[in-house]
Amino acid sequence: MNVYDATRMTDLLAGQGYDETAREEDADLVILNTCHIREKAADKIYSELGKLAVLKRARGDEGRDLKIVVAGCVAQAEGGEVLRRQKAVDLVVGPQSYHHLPELLSRVGRGERLSDTEFEVEEKFRELPQPSRARIRARGVSAFVTVQEGCDKFCSFCVVPYTRGAETSRGVEEVLAEARRLVDAGVREIALIGQNVNAYRGEDKGGKVWPLERLFEVLSEVEGLDRLRYMTSHPVDTTQGLIDAHGSLPKLMPFMHLPVQSGSNRVLKAMNRRHKAEDYLDIVRRLRAARPDIALSSDFIVGFPGETDADFEETLALIREVGFASTFSFKYSARPGTPGAEREDQIDDGVMRERLAALQALVESQRQAFNAATVGRTVDVLFEKAGRHNGQIAGKTPYMQAVHVNGPPEMIGRVAPVRIVEAGSNSLAGEIAEGEG
Ligand code: 5AD
Ligand code: SF4
Repeated sequence: MNVYDATRMTDLLAGQGYDETAREEDADLVILNTCHIREKAADKIYSELGKLAVLKRARGDEGRDLKIVVAGCVAQAEGGEVLRRQKAVDLVVGPQSYHHLPELLSRVGRGERLSDTEFEVEEKFRELPQPSRARIRARGVSAFVTVQEGCDKFCSFCVVPYTRGAETSRGVEEVLAEARRLVDAGVREIALIGQNVNAYRGEDKGGKVWPLERLFEVLSEVEGLDRLRYMTSHPVDTTQGLIDAHGSLPKLMPFMHLPVQSGSNRVLKAMNRRHKAEDYLDIVRRLRAARPDIALSSDFIVGFPGETDADFEETLALIREVGFASTFSFKYSARPGTPGAEREDQIDDGVMRERLAALQALVESQRQAFNAATVGRTVDVLFEKAGRHNGQIAGKTPYMQAVHVNGPPEMIGRVAPVRIVEAGSNSLAGEIAEGEG
């Protein structure tokens, strides 16, 4: 979501005469787009701001200015505190206010220092201007389209409902228009994104409410669009309709990121997840019935307050039962303002570290087994860019595995069958299957 928001901000500012640069030494304006999900992510901001403050002072000595903006969820959570803690910051702007950026920056240009995080929350999706064809093309063949923002679930460890606000869905026509525009400019893969993407309930012009799978059905008809993906989903919003779409829509890729967080019903309850381990396993069973080759991905938290060794064993048991293609796993991080942070039974960091290592060893062996199982198979690859070595091109399998092959750059943007010959630690090597495609 932050990657997408960063592109939305640069697109917006491109219309104001700004241009992107890869080096902060060249920049007149730096926007730090921040994450508040775990303490570690939030801590990085102040050390980064310290470095930018040094650059700004050096700039001042040359008689040139550097404006520093803090955006994202730390901005939302800390607001004016960021301005007080780091004097070099000019503007603090939360995710719900990016559409005000041009106006806010012109106030900064007049010498104001401000925080725009104490806004009135509008309960509707905020549309931003669309990027030009040239900007879409420069970003490659795979693109994000946001369809939903915010979260009403209030998992007891999570800051998202506070920083990103309530669940809102983007209108059907806006989503479809943006997708068509992207495909028209050369995009071949679209990932629909949202904090709870499968809670999508967008309205069309006639006031009819669409579930996510209806968007996939219509997008499947768009000529030139080869692949559809989505993230991130919640188990309680995983309807049979969405599961069936995996069976009936070939363009909907056989991959689902479905965080479970824990395999212990006691911990899931304390996390306020609103589902049990067996509900998750039942979804997995139905997904595999609809699309036997579907690859599954998940998020896990170890060391939620009160988690016992037995609870943790249940998480490992769930992982063994499912078999994941890829995962993200984290030590629990107590976030201010969330119910979990108030609990007295916080878990010792050493215990968390051990559990995380054990969990990561297990999921890594599953990931490698999943990759090894593709060796010898022929799978479709969407080529996205030049490879690391001369003469190579790189892309992704339907299951999100990175693949490189020897092939001409003209194949970038195309899907072709590839015979996988080797599984490395982070990517697969293959050969374009001759006589096919
Ligand atoms: N501590 C650790 N991990 C967290 N996540 C969210 N909040 C926390 C927290 N307080 C993880 C969850 C979520 C992912 C995006 O980040 O696993 O699915
Ligand atoms: Fe956070 Fe839970 Fe909402 Fe996901 S569903 S964003 S973990 S509160």
